[in-house]
Amino acid sequence: MVSLKNKELFQQAIQLFPGGVNSPVRAFRAVKETPRFIARGEGAYLVDVEGKLYIDYVGSWGPLILGHAHPEVLAALERTAHHGLSYGAPSPLEIELGRRIIQRVPSVEKLRFVSSGTEATMSAVRLARAATSRDLILKFDGCYHGHADSLLVRAGSGVATFGLPDSPGVPAAFAALTLSVPFNDLDAVKKMFHAHAKKIAAVIVEPVPGNMGVVLPDGDFLPQLRDITANDGALLILDEVMTGFRLAYGGAQEIFGIDPDLTCFGKVIGGGLPVGAYGGKQRYLSMIAPEGPVYQAGTLSGNPLAMAAGIATLDLLSREAYQRLNARSAKLYEGLQVLIDEPRAQPRRTSDQHAAVQLNSFGSMFTIFFTEHRVRDYSTAKTSDVGRFARFFRCLLENGIYFPPAQFEAAFVSLSHGESEIERTLVAAEKALRAAE
Ligand SMILES: Cc1ncc(COP(=O)(O)O)c(C=O)c1O
Repeated sequence: MVSLKNKELFQQAIQLFPGGVNSPVRAFRAVKETPRFIARGEGAYLVDVEGKLYIDYVGSWGPLILGHAHPEVLAALERTAHHGLSYGAPSPLEIELGRRIIQRVPSVEKLRFVSSGTEATMSAVRLARAATSRDLILKFDGCYHGHADSLLVRAGSGVATFGLPDSPGVPAAFAALTLSVPFNDLDAVKKMFHAHAKKIAAVIVEPVPGNMGVVLPDGDFLPQLRDITANDGALLILDEVMTGFRLAYGGAQEIFGIDPDLTCFGKVIGGGLPVGAYGGKQRYLSMIAPEGPVYQAGTLSGNPLAMAAGIATLDLLSREAYQRLNARSAKLYEGLQVLIDEPRAQPRRTSDQHAAVQLNSFGSMFTIFFTEHRVRDYSTAKTSDVGRFARFFRCLLENGIYFPPAQFEAAFVSLSHGESEIERTLVAAEKALRAAE
């Protein structure tokens, strides 16, 4: 087959799909570039249809913690595919993956598999409303929990990139049930609970947000959310779609010592195939049909291929693997910080010595913001100069480094990123930081 160039393929795609893509940020609009059409992925690399190689820091937006096409994941898929692609009936593979999740995450006593992170959060919200007989949901500005109507309010990720406050098509009456306050702002949370006492069904939060770029929770933020929700009788839903099995063996909740009522998963648990899950305390999960009255279903839920990829992935993620991944990521961050601290990357150094570039990182998730402000919530994230980010991105791409094509996203390091990839990334980053001045 003759390989068509990226631009030609994009022209064709534009005729077929809105904006030429099947998920908005892939269109590269925020960085004014042509999206690369990918021919294949291999370890830490993507190869586009023009044969150009990129070191990949998107990792399919998080799932590919082992890198692309890991041989053990492929072998598991091949073995499973020979036995059929979907049964629409229970299979032992669901038990295998379900057990692994429950063993690693003590707050999850029971769970339900779905096919995406969006389905997981949407279903968890429905369950929280049913369990509490309350309607309001409290979320945080710039956090993204998928595109279900309840959660598309002041959302991050593509919604932030395209500057959409709340999406048209979400009825105002519906959006009114979703309250949103700044991340890390406990006073704002307390005020909401004061104003709406016993009316909030749940607080949903990304424990380490990645969808406004990476932002770290203040030390007492998550524990306080746990206390505030428990005192009011509201549920705490940790959205670990991005952080689950990415930040630690037991997810972000293990790191922060949080015992949520419900947890949402996606990305890593599917090893690159479409999977999500929501789970938590038995008393809530027993409300889900057919055990209870809260309806939620899925034609492809528990799909055998997706389960097999997830099992193979989790089995390679020992505690030691996270130490390796985090140590490797730390090397990259140290190198980036040295570059950021070099005078030429600080065109707008202020008197209090804040550099005009900020590196936020946690484990293998990171974001470089082009601002002099410390980024700790959505409003500070938005002070980032997206024009500078676009120049930074384009220069990286030109030099064979594939970063998330928007400022308000997390970049991901995988276990397949070795020393040589990190060194090459730093060489390119030096040029790109200069290009972004
Ligand atoms: C924290 C979080 N929740 C939910 C979702 C939605 O997951 P999906 O895109 O699989 O529907 C995402 C996707 O990026 C996410 O990062």
